[in-house]
Amino acid sequence: MRIIIANWKMKFTIKESLNFLRRFKKQKLPFGVEVVLAPSFISLKEVGEGLKKTSLKLGAQDVFWQEKGAFTGEISPEMLKETRVEYVIVGHSERRQWLKETDEMINAKIVNLLKNDLMPVVCVGETWQEKNENLTEKVICRQIKVGFRNIKTDKTLVIAYEPVWAIGTGRPAFPEDAAQMHQLIRKCLEKIFGREAVKKNARVIYGGSVNAQNTAAFAKEEGIDGFLVGGASLDPEEFYKIIKACQSKNFKK
Ligand code: PGA
Repeated sequence: MRIIIANWKMKFTIKESLNFLRRFKKQKLPFGVEVVLAPSFISLKEVGEGLKKTSLKLGAQDVFWQEKGAFTGEISPEMLKETRVEYVIVGHSERRQWLKETDEMINAKIVNLLKNDLMPVVCVGETWQEKNENLTEKVICRQIKVGFRNIKTDKTLVIAYEPVWAIGTGRPAFPEDAAQMHQLIRKCLEKIFGREAVKKNARVIYGGSVNAQNTAAFAKEEGIDGFLVGGASLDPEEFYKIIKACQSKNFKK
């Protein structure tokens, strides 16, 4: 089963989210693809209602690392669950950059999610500068090592490889480079969870300027289990084309 997640960031109002959903719901989803919509917090409840009786899943774009308490402006796992959320993105590079989120904070968020039976979608990836300084491997292994510190689980984990320089730039990674990074991510995860567990539970997806034109090239690569899509997920027709390009028959394995 491949996972395709629409990350709507701070782009859609409630009205716009529902408008997307109304148009998108008409499409027939191909077999073997799990499609997740991640609207803003404020749209979750209504989008969640709109998803009823469909096979679409609901995702959130973040969560706080504590379960409850005096944390003004934050959202807990319990609150997310009230709105049918199943997947939660954590560690997105925009939050690392603008909100100064650290690997330690992301670790605490993952712990909080797993404790509450929500599926984390953990974003990792290097900046352009790190890439040029040949630090990619080091950065990604650190993000994984600290991000999953003290975590023992046999639940599904989704890791999104999102090179920061590819996000929103129209310059995606080369598919073969992305596939190599996915392999590296699996190796780092194996050190924590063991080989068998990673094989069974880890899904590594790619994000960064994915669109209807380039999906098929990524889908052909080994070890790319799906996509986290930003800009191209805002248009129902384009997003549907991405999903169609991810049908099982177009993937290697
Ligand atoms: P993009 O964003 O598809 O617009 O590059 C991806 C993401 O930030 O998750």
